[in-house]
Amino acid sequence: MDKTKILFVCLGNICRSPSAEAVMNSLIKTKAIEDQFEIDSAGITGYHAGEPADQRMQRHALQRNITLTSISRPVKSPDDFEYFDYIIGMDEQNMADLEYLAPDENSRKKLSKMTDYCSTHSHNSVPDPYYGGASGFELVLDILEDACQGLLNHISKNE
Ligand code: 4NP
Repeated sequence: MDKTKILFVCLGNICRSPSAEAVMNSLIKTKAIEDQFEIDSAGITGYHAGEPADQRMQRHALQRNITLTSISRPVKSPDDFEYFDYIIGMDEQNMADLEYLAPDENSRKKLSKMTDYCSTHSHNSVPDPYYGGASGFELVLDILEDACQGLLNHISKNE
């Protein structure tokens, strides 16, 4: 069976999307279905390319037993749009940028927003925590835990 390939995308790929990647990896590991998936993350910009996740984001994630391991990289067009099955942005600006970067209609069909998969949170974006305080990082993780579970339900219904 082909693996389901998921790319999470935010602006800098040092806070939200590496956390989404790690939350999803943790969830599929708990369910012992990690061999069915390939999970990655990337940034709209390459400003932080080569850097590990933001220290504050790492610390908050670790408090939930989630380890952030990814190294920042920018989205590659057209390669990422061809390779991944799901390309998931964190906010409206990410979605607009992904629409712009997508090379064709088939790629645009792969796009969705993380909060579309939430069932308990009513936010319509994952807010950028970079310039805020501790509560912003906690909110990111709360939304991502909800959305990753919803995404997994969506995929299992559709595959
Ligand atoms: P992220 O957060 O998109 O969740 O990784 C940000 C990280 C860095 C910057 C903005 C947002 N920045 O402006 O450097």
